[in-house]
Amino acid sequence: MKKQPVSIIVVGASGDLAKKKTFPAIFSLFYHDLLPEDFVVYGYARSKMSQEEFRELIMSTLTCRVIDGRKCSEKMDEFLPRCHYVSGKYDVSSDFSALSKELAMFESSNEVSNRLFYLAVPPSVFQKAASNINLAGRSPKGYTRVVVEKPFGKDSESYRELRAGLSSILSEEETYRIDHYLGKELVQNLMSLRFANSIFEPIWNRNYIQSVQLVFKENFGVEGRAGYFDGVGIIRDIMQNHLLQVLALVAMEPPVSLHAEDIRNEKVKLLRSMEKLSKDSFVIGQYEGKGEGQPGYRADEGVAPRSKTPTFAACVLNIRNQRWEGVPFMMKAGKALDERKAEIRIVFKPAAGSIFSVPNTIKNNELVIKIQPDESIYMRIANKVPGLTSRMEEGRLNMFYREAWEESKDIPDAYERLILDVLNGEKSLFIRDDELEVAWDIFSDAIHELEEDPNVEPESYKYGTRGPVGADHLAARHGSRWSEL
Ligand code: BG6
Repeated sequence: MKKQPVSIIVVGASGDLAKKKTFPAIFSLFYHDLLPEDFVVYGYARSKMSQEEFRELIMSTLTCRVIDGRKCSEKMDEFLPRCHYVSGKYDVSSDFSALSKELAMFESSNEVSNRLFYLAVPPSVFQKAASNINLAGRSPKGYTRVVVEKPFGKDSESYRELRAGLSSILSEEETYRIDHYLGKELVQNLMSLRFANSIFEPIWNRNYIQSVQLVFKENFGVEGRAGYFDGVGIIRDIMQNHLLQVLALVAMEPPVSLHAEDIRNEKVKLLRSMEKLSKDSFVIGQYEGKGEGQPGYRADEGVAPRSKTPTFAACVLNIRNQRWEGVPFMMKAGKALDERKAEIRIVFKPAAGSIFSVPNTIKNNELVIKIQPDESIYMRIANKVPGLTSRMEEGRLNMFYREAWEESKDIPDAYERLILDVLNGEKSLFIRDDELEVAWDIFSDAIHELEEDPNVEPESYKYGTRGPVGADHLAARHGSRWSEL
């Protein structure tokens, strides 16, 4: 069936998100023939730019997943003439009317023509841009869908205001709230792993699992993004959204079906059974410089000289339900650490009643789901060392994606999957409004307590290290330790 024509409008086209993620993802969908035959891309932003300048800007952002230089440059040549630019303000509805007029020219020969607005703009202009889309940008002969991306407010209260404001302008059906971690390959695989294999579900509970660890680490600081980050901090930037979303998929009950509403109902149910966090659930840290090229957080332009914004945080979350009561869900996220990775670790309880006289070097089996880099799933097990010995060591059951799957050479970026889903009206990878509300309720009090208590100071750690030692003490208080191998 021929796909319906669509205009993709990137609002905030000259910003970082649009350049780094949105345009490359749209191009990649085109490269893989996943866009409708009739499509056009419009950039909209305040800066004045000619069509040529805009096309040059786009061209500098485009990359090809598959290294086929010739096809790639042919496809770019086909793609660029479909890209246009309109300059306008976000809070001026007549500017949106001018954009709409341009879109109408492209759409004039089509009976149906859809509009997908991608809001790659700061939160301060979300509402205004959305309201002008509603007033002057809606498609007169097809769907209007609007993609928005975090930050969705700063706490429960501001989110409720934003939600009330946006819901009077756009319906829930039209709104696509992105959390790009949901578009990552291994995060998408969580449901298959849990619900399509019979071995995991029987042991996926408090009887067998000692702790669950969700870890996000970056080996670079906020360089260049401090203006945004200093008012946000790592808890809002990574934990309340990316890691919490992953947690929900790890811990939720099986959904009735793969239908978006069934999945999101289970996530909301799970989030509602979680205890709200307080400042005592956390250890926070902030990095200090370590030689050239590794400046401290406070040295960054845009950071207040005495800023207490955490660039690292660890916390323990509790789920009050029959499956998980008593199992600590440990989260850790930080910038300027020793490595870059995101992973989930399911740590099992030790085997009972050991019959072995030799010490077992691994007490807890662990299922590790490595989201990035080098996607892989592996199980840490105790194994006898081969030969005339009864020594035991850790062995691994490994599935490295790049060895196991030919397709893994070409894993799409999360944004490709998500934009494709918006085009298809598939909502399971997008956050529902009530889901976000509960997500904020879990973190909001703790964030306020940490920010408002004059006695709270982030523990400092050196750029490029494991982070504050307080995180280890926190884990120890919960009878656990961060697993690294
Ligand atoms: C963004 C955060 O949402 O995710 C950034 O704002 C962070 O601070 C980024 O660097 C990490 O995403 P990824 O896909 O590189 O792990």
